[in-house]
Amino acid sequence: MASRLIVPTTKQLIKTFATSAPAAGAASALPKYTLPTLPYSYSALEPAISGQIMETHHTKHHQAYVNNLNNAIQQYADAEKSGDLQKMIALQPALRFNGGGHVNHSIFWTNLAPPKEGGGGKPTGELLTAIEASFGSFDKFKDTMSAQSIGVQGSGWGWLGYSKERQRVEILTKPNQDPLTELVPLLGFDVWEHAYYYLYGPARAEYIKKIWDIINWQNVSERYAAAKKQ
Ligand SMILES: [Fe+2]
Repeated sequence: MASRLIVPTTKQLIKTFATSAPAAGAASALPKYTLPTLPYSYSALEPAISGQIMETHHTKHHQAYVNNLNNAIQQYADAEKSGDLQKMIALQPALRFNGGGHVNHSIFWTNLAPPKEGGGGKPTGELLTAIEASFGSFDKFKDTMSAQSIGVQGSGWGWLGYSKERQRVEILTKPNQDPLTELVPLLGFDVWEHAYYYLYGPARAEYIKKIWDIINWQNVSERYAAAKKQ
C-alpha cells in the first residue's frame, strides 16, 4: 500500500505558525507575520544578556525568520494555486526552519524578564509542584535543563514542555529551529551562538548559568495553566 503523502494547504500552514494571529491583509492577500514587540528594552536583561545581543537577535535574526516565512508562504500559496506539488514539497524545509524560528523566538522573548521586574528566582504554585513531581526538586530540574541545553550539538533549543498524554512537565531538546511539537512549549532556551556569543564567546555553559536570573516564571506558569486546559 502506498504511504499517504501529507501536503498541508496554505490555510493549514498559516494556522501552524500563528503564535499570535497574523495581521490581516487585504481581502485577497495572505496574512503577514510580523515581528513581535519586546515587553522590555534591549538593555533591560543585562548583565545576563547584553543590549547588543538582544537588539541584533530581535531586529536581525528574528526579523529574518519572519521575512523568510512570509516569502515562503507566498511561494507556497502560488504553488498550491497552480497545482505545483513538487514546488510545495520543495518549500517545506524553508517553512519548517523559518516558521519554527518565528514560533520559537516569539515564545523565548516572553519567557524572559528583567530582574527588576520579577525575572529570576523560582516558580511557585502549581508549576513548582509539577516540576517537583517530574524532577524531584527545582534544583534538580535546573541542573537537568542546564545540562541538556548545554549539550545540544550545534544550534538548537532546550525546552521545558507539558505532555498532554502523560500529564506532566518534561525536558526535550530540538536541533536547528525545529519547533517543539511533541510537548506544549513552556520555557525555551535558545542555544544558537547568536544568542550569547558576543558576550560569552564559546562558553555556552556560562550563558545558561546566567539565564536563570532572567526567567519570567509568571509567563511560564501562565503557559502551564493554559497547556493543562488544551
Ligand atoms: Fe535565536
